[in-house]
Order: sequence, then structure tokens, then C-alpha cells
Amino acid sequence: MSSMTEYALARRPADWPQPEQLGFGQKLAPWVVSAEHRDGEGWSALHAMPLSEARSPMASGGLQYGLSVFEGLKAYRGPRGDAHLFRPREHAARLTSSARRLRMPHVPESLFIEACRLAARLHEDFLPPQGRGSLYLRPTLFADEEALGFRVAHTHRLALIVTPSSDPLPKTVNLWAESELARAAIGGTGAAKTGGNYAAGLLGLVRARERGCDDVAWLDAARTRLSEAGTMNLFVKIDDTWCTPPLDGTILPGITRDSLMTLMREQGVDVQERGLDLRELATLEREGRLGAAFGCGTAARIVRIASIRSESSTVSFPDDPQVAVLRDRLKRCQEGTESGFSTWACAI
Ligand SMILES: Cc1ncc(COP(=O)(O)O)c(C=O)c1O
Repeated sequence: MSSMTEYALARRPADWPQPEQLGFGQKLAPWVVSAEHRDGEGWSALHAMPLSEARSPMASGGLQYGLSVFEGLKAYRGPRGDAHLFRPREHAARLTSSARRLRMPHVPESLFIEACRLAARLHEDFLPPQGRGSLYLRPTLFADEEALGFRVAHTHRLALIVTPSSDPLPKTVNLWAESELARAAIGGTGAAKTGGNYAAGLLGLVRARERGCDDVAWLDAARTRLSEAGTMNLFVKIDDTWCTPPLDGTILPGITRDSLMTLMREQGVDVQERGLDLRELATLEREGRLGAAFGCGTAARIVRIASIRSESSTVSFPDDPQVAVLRDRLKRCQEGTESGFSTWACAI
């Protein structure tokens, strides 16, 4: 694998936006970190190239058949200003399981983490000060052999791009429960982080926006239970228990979801994986047993959900100060200012 000494640290241009103006995914950092996998040869060494020179063949399986899986993880500055990755091992494991589902090569954890560390080190100058943002890393594994036939490709590429991002602001959203379209079904690719799931879900997002909502709430294939939002896992409080849909192979196993369940359990907060039937939630609301709801993910951290609307009903969720407390605690863990979860950070 390449060492950092071969690369110069990319310098942030003087007119680069302030962290609060970066938003998410709008400004791409200048380098791509990449490695190639060939059948029979395995993985090449990692190398970096300017983003402007990165190319992908028109006839690749990645472009033509969606043979592409990816991850989204962040690098933060810790209390002393040094940078670390948040839970890269868990992201490596999820990329491995996504790749297995699409019959793509295994990316060793060490290669994945080294690629993330190299990309973060190259762009350290772009990483906002502690508390004000992050580097969002997007490692993508795709079939890049120049061949049009539909089959397992002989060459694949792992390529990692970086976008410096603002710290996400607290937000409240309304969701539209989609009853015509489905995102996933048992046996499908719902648990894989693959572009096809997002492509299949885009119309759902558009339909939600047309109905005045901010995002889509996907239901299971039977259209009764909540699965997840467009890019977030869901939590709903029932009585004193936080409930989240189980990992049944149809939803993305979110790293934020897992972090929050760990934090809640460690604090003695009751959290359960269980089905969330929309009609049951409406009944619980009438009985006064329905508490707050939120969505969570790497990009947005925690977003309060005020309501979930559907063709037949609207379920409203009260505000709960516990949501803001959880969001602040998660931010401290991600930034490494909360003691007790040091194993979640990996120095770059
Ligand atoms: C469909 C979907 N579900 C859930 C999540 C949350 O996952 P994570 O917490 O690992 O970012 C994401 C975010 O990437 C997503 O795209």
C-alpha cells in the first residue's frame, strides 16, 4: 500500500466556504483514492489521483447494470484538533456484506481502512475545526471492466471520494408513507448499500415532496410496517421504550442506528427491535401511548419526525427533549469528546 510520503497534502483554496456554508455533498475534495481488483491477482496497491482525471468505462457493469456498492462515513476532529474516522470497521464490514450480495470481490478491512485514512490525511486541511463539520468519505466498489455482457466482471475498482461537510443542524421533518411503490422485499437487496436501491427509491422521494412532505417512509412489501426513510433508519417511542424495525434483510443496517442502540442501552434506556405497524401507531396515538420519533444516519445524525402521513391517516409524534439529548451525545461520541467510546474512533 502507498505511504503518505508520496502525496502532498491538498491545500484548501483561500476562497473555500466557511464550514457552516459547506452543506452536504456540494464541494468535492481534489483527490480520489483508489485500488483495482483483478481476478486471479487480487488487489493492487492504493494510489491517489486528481478527481479531475478519474475516469470510468462507458461499458462497465457499474454503469450499465448497477454493479456498485458503497459506504458513507465521516472523519471528525477530536478535542485536541487531530482527525479520526468514526467506526470504519463497521463500515468495512457492511461494504463486505453489500459486495457479497452483488457477487463482487471482498474488500479486506485493512485495505478499506487504509483507503479511508489516506483520503482523510490527504484532505486534512479541508476538515472543519472541531464541532463545526466533518469530511464525509464515500468509498465505492464497482465493476469497471470494459465489457458489455451481463456477468461477473473480471476487474473491479474501489474508489474513494471526499466531500467536506457542515455539521448537520437539528431538523424536524414530516414523512410520507409510500403505499404504491416498495423499496425492498425479503430476499432482495434492501440490506445492501447499493445504488440500485436509491435509484428505485427516488420516485418515492419525489412523490413524498409532491405531497408536501420532506422525505419518504418506506413500508415493508405488505405495506403495513415501517421500514426506513429515504436515507435514515427510524426510531419511535412507545410508552417508555424506543422501538426500531428489526434487521430482516430489507433495511440498511445503519451504523448510526447501532451506535444509538448501544448508547441508549448503556444509559439504561429501554430499546427494542420490533415491527412498527402504521395502524398500530395510530391506535397508540389515540391511547396517548405514542412518544417521539426520529430518523438517523451518518449524513443527518438525528432528525426529529413530527408526523408520518399516508393515504388514509396522519400519525403525529410529540417532541421529546430526549431526542436532542441523544443527538448531542452522539455528536460528542462521533467527535471523540465523550469518554467511554474510544474504540469507535480510528486515528488517521
Ligand atoms: C437507506 C438508508 N438507510 C439508513 C441509513 C443510515 O445508515 P448509517 O447510519 O450507516 O449512515 C442510510 C445512510 O446511509 C441509508 O441510505
